[in-house]
Amino acid sequence: MSTMRDSFQSRIGFILAAAGSAIGLGNIWGFPTQAANNGGGAFVFVYLIVTVLLALPALYAEMYIGNQTQKNPVGALQDACEGVSRNLGKYAGLFGLLGAILMLSFYTIVAGWMLAHALSPLMDLFGFTDAATWLGESSHARNLAFTPVFIILGALIINQGVSKGIERWSSRLMPILFVLLIGLIIYILQQPGASEGVAMYLQPDFSQLRDPMLIISAMGQAFFSLSIGVGGMMVYGSYMKKNANMGQLVLSIGALDTLIAFLAGLLIIPTLFVAQHLGLEVFSGDKLIGGPQLIFSVLPTLFDSMGDIGVYVALVFFSLMSMAALTSTLSSTEVPVAYLVEDKNCSRTKATVLVSLIVLIACMSIVYNFDSLFGLVITWVNTFQLPIMGLFYFIVVGWIWKRGNQLTDQALLASKPSLRLWGNYLRFVCPILLSIVFINVLMAL
Ligand code: PHE
Repeated sequence: MSTMRDSFQSRIGFILAAAGSAIGLGNIWGFPTQAANNGGGAFVFVYLIVTVLLALPALYAEMYIGNQTQKNPVGALQDACEGVSRNLGKYAGLFGLLGAILMLSFYTIVAGWMLAHALSPLMDLFGFTDAATWLGESSHARNLAFTPVFIILGALIINQGVSKGIERWSSRLMPILFVLLIGLIIYILQQPGASEGVAMYLQPDFSQLRDPMLIISAMGQAFFSLSIGVGGMMVYGSYMKKNANMGQLVLSIGALDTLIAFLAGLLIIPTLFVAQHLGLEVFSGDKLIGGPQLIFSVLPTLFDSMGDIGVYVALVFFSLMSMAALTSTLSSTEVPVAYLVEDKNCSRTKATVLVSLIVLIACMSIVYNFDSLFGLVITWVNTFQLPIMGLFYFIVVGWIWKRGNQLTDQALLASKPSLRLWGNYLRFVCPILLSIVFINVLMAL
């Protein structure tokens, strides 16, 4: 056990690191396409409700467990489950840790594609057109090269520790990401066709609200977007000084995450209509194209057809995606690294190398069995891992955890009615709501 734990040096550093984890491909890619295909503003509306009622409380529960115990997720859940069974906590923690590795195993593959697409316009600018073409086309060789590159980038940051690595890099990259995003939005909104996209995005089609799948999709999206359920936010919470005002911090993180998702919608959907204006096919049936085809086929083709400026737009867009993805992988990587350092007496470097190798092996298993594994792992993580762990956090915070937990400390609760209300909300309302949604997910499978 190491005696001195590294920690975040400032509130803002913590917020940017946690927002960095939250803001990722889920915001810039997932949210806009879900919104476009699920009633535009109506989806945004439902998303906001689910975020406030369920996802933010789950984020609070996750971070609170980390903050109160000041341990890595396995140790943290073990302590929190003390009153019932330390083993329950241990296995739940390890289950979360497995989720973190699975999340990384598909996320870094996709992040590698982003990085390759960011380097492609750069090669073009320097006149290496063959390299640019290779980088822009999906291939096995490209996966074999760029997944490891991305894992190494993350490992280099993680190896530097919490304050000098995670905090420093998130504090650098997040403001850049914000500026690039705003710049792209301003540019795209001036292109012909963009206003149609804005209309589609913001005009709510409330008839879609009757579809129960809408709530399910919105909840999945909100949990993924806030990085709930793999322990990443828990380990970040543990690096914040004990008894920090978690409520306020969670609200700031949630606000930033939602703001970026909303802004990404204002970029992606109008971009698709600009593409349509230029003659590209952006609908399949009555749905806007989503998925890899959108990001890696429609958008590059659009950027190509924009003339000289297109290469810069492509560079900015894919750099933004790569940065968003990189800061999102840090929190998941920190989960097993912190566990190995604190509970298994590894040095940070050894732990980082070991975790990177495990993630690399997981990624390569997916790369070599892409058709059968890629979708399966994503579905597992999104549909099962995240809500199950979210539910578990509510149960831990509200029911299992007795000692040292402010939310079940009777003396404290008696003196603070607002805390009692909040405690009861986490205890009764959240698990019931989440279970109802989860049962509906299972029935919809
Ligand atoms: N929140 C990240 C995104 O929106 C993804 C993520 C999920 C990161 C789970 C960490 C843990 O892209």
